[in-house]
Amino acid sequence: MTEWTQKHLLGIEPLSVDEISLILDTAVQMREIMDRPIKKVPTLRGRTVVNLFMEASTRTRASFEMAERILSADSLSIQAAGSSVAKGESLLDTVKNLEAMTPDVIVVRHSSAGAANFLARRSNSRIVNAGDGAHEHPTQALLDAFTLRQSKGRIAGLKVAIVGDVLHSRVARSNIQLLTKMGADVTLCAPPTLLPQEFSSLATLSWRIDEAIEGADVVMMLRLQQERMTSAFISTMREYHAQYGLTLERLKRAKSDVVVLHPGPMNRGVEIASEVADSRASLILDQVTNGVAVRMAVLYLLLGGGRE
Ligand code: CP
Repeated sequence: MTEWTQKHLLGIEPLSVDEISLILDTAVQMREIMDRPIKKVPTLRGRTVVNLFMEASTRTRASFEMAERILSADSLSIQAAGSSVAKGESLLDTVKNLEAMTPDVIVVRHSSAGAANFLARRSNSRIVNAGDGAHEHPTQALLDAFTLRQSKGRIAGLKVAIVGDVLHSRVARSNIQLLTKMGADVTLCAPPTLLPQEFSSLATLSWRIDEAIEGADVVMMLRLQQERMTSAFISTMREYHAQYGLTLERLKRAKSDVVVLHPGPMNRGVEIASEVADSRASLILDQVTNGVAVRMAVLYLLLGGGRE
């Protein structure tokens, strides 16, 4: 059995295959707790977690909070609006002040790539990256992997098409790392303006969705991240949907038992048609459920569970 030795969870890139497998195996046990009538265990009683969300979130923040409650950790959540960041306090000063209250873990979401690594180098707390700019979103990739193992029984050998705004996507970056480490065959598909060449050594690159999803076991759709776009990357939303939107007709090119993932939030009618989002192939809400179990596993392992 692999022993957990990481102090922080900053990304998928620094993790070994054994460490990823340990998180996913631990999450299986955590998922069982979620199915009990009383969803509460004393595992992290007396431990304190601060959820510091400097960028908008629904799923990640709520599921960290849910995970902390199920494991009996004490937790509090801070958002940019309503905190002293709105008065000009820096991220580092904010974290140093929170750290003075002796939390065990700080979960951080920030719009700047590298924010979690920056804090990990300068603070004494354990840091969990809940998404840093366009860099990494490790717990999202872990919950996606958990969902694929649950649905397909494996990750190795799966043909996975990741379609959408790859350029601005931390979800894509973490998933490319995780899926290729675990032996999946990854194709990235986007318009040329949103498909960086940096991934060509790890994945097949395609500008055509019909080609990318041909024979796929898994299609993972990504949102256009307009909040990170500094210039015009697409012509119009209508044109983007026509060329890259996932419809049931298009999905017929994939394997008959294809599953569809989306990290959320979805823009229905843009990257994904409602008929796909709400279809039997869609595992989008399973991803959300499994996100709680994966975040429980991460907190448990970071706080010493893997060394018991
Ligand atoms: N998948 C994801 O990170 O969603 P939120 O932005 O709502 O947390």
